Amino acid sequence: MVIKPRIKGSLALNAHPVGCKKAVEDQIEYVKSSTSYNGAKKVLILGASSGYGLASRISLAFGGSKADTIGVSFEKEGNGRKPGSAGWYNNIWFKEAAEKEGLVAKNFIGDAFSHEMRDEVIKYIKEEFGGEIDLLVYSLASGVRKDPDTGEVYRSQLRPKGVSITGPTFNVEKESIEELTLDPATPEDEANTIKVMGGEDWNLWVDALTEANVVSKGFQTLAYSYIGAEITRRIYREGTIGGAKEHLENTALDLNKKLKDSIGGSAHVAVKRAIVTKASAFIPIFPLYATVLFKVMEEKGIEENAIAHTHRLFTDMIFGDKMEMDDKGRIRPDSWEMREDVQREVMEIYKDITVDNFKELTDFARYKRDFMQLNGFEIDGVDYEADVDLEAMAKLRP
Ligand code: NAD
Ligand code: NA
Repeated sequence: MVIKPRIKGSLALNAHPVGCKKAVEDQIEYVKSSTSYNGAKKVLILGASSGYGLASRISLAFGGSKADTIGVSFEKEGNGRKPGSAGWYNNIWFKEAAEKEGLVAKNFIGDAFSHEMRDEVIKYIKEEFGGEIDLLVYSLASGVRKDPDTGEVYRSQLRPKGVSITGPTFNVEKESIEELTLDPATPEDEANTIKVMGGEDWNLWVDALTEANVVSKGFQTLAYSYIGAEITRRIYREGTIGGAKEHLENTALDLNKKLKDSIGGSAHVAVKRAIVTKASAFIPIFPLYATVLFKVMEEKGIEENAIAHTHRLFTDMIFGDKMEMDDKGRIRPDSWEMREDVQREVMEIYKDITVDNFKELTDFARYKRDFMQLNGFEIDGVDYEADVDLEAMAKLRP
């Protein structure tokens, strides 16, 4: 079957398995040809199949100390007629490449928020992974979470607090900008978003892993946050999602103290830069901001994609000697995005954007390419006219 991209609005409906393979290989190639570091050797990544979680896994396995990794993700399998999700294939190709180099790459597909998943992963660490991990990367992004004790299902909401806001959002399919109005969050929306994207689940994981004694002395854990600037402030940092990130950051402080006292370990949040991922395409204003950011950072020679940014976080900061930490204990690889000159120039461009001129004023082409590449399309060196044997693909296991 020849697979062409199908997009509805800003939702990608299919993935290209061979393109996903090339995208994983390109990321591996990037870290192999960059500076490496002495880092973690036994790693658990929650949210390992795409975005920052996948970039972390690739950096740690191929660009650091050749880490054995366990990846947990929620992805959809394909069949003989229909391809699976991009993350499904990313897991498969990552594992194939890692095993070729003698590394362990174990994938668990299912709900990371469940106690069952924690039990399964812990059992695997004990019985087959050498008994302990030295790093946990928490990179889940989800719109929904089922409370593992009560069974109640919570849905996060991307909403401003107190006021309604109207802002532009992309329609990737039509290559246009649409105005979107978001009503203010209810107190319940705020609480639900914290429940899904805050630190509660991270805490449960760290507690379960430490109680089961499957963490090393000096064990580290890392979760990803975002702050951003003035343009996205009301929808992101001061919105419901920002409330959840604040909760995540406070959880880091609690976990850090707990781990330090018990095993000489640590917990931190790293504030990452804006990139295009599955989850971020649905935040109003954010994608448009990101496209202007790409353009300004490119002009200044400091533009980074997910793998470059993540690899620098590990090389320079987590396992290096160029740590940038703020007074709230947050690691700040986003300092390039937050630079005063960058933000000033982004703002200058942003305020002039209209529905008619946005393709000239922003780097929309780059945004769209990044968006397509998340699902394995528009990747250099892939023959998109070639037949993909979905029957054969369906036989591959993550
Ligand atoms: P992503 O959508 O690319 O990845 C999310 C991962 O979570 C996937 O592996 C997915 O399979 C997994 N997942 C979701 N629900 C799951 C479940 N119930 N069980 C198991 N796995 C599940 O997202 P991303 O953009 O890489 O986000 C990762 C983290 O980075 C988030 O905390 C996000 O807020 C943060 N971050 C993102 C940006 C950005 O610009 N995208 C910027 C800063 C920080
Ligand atoms: Na991720």
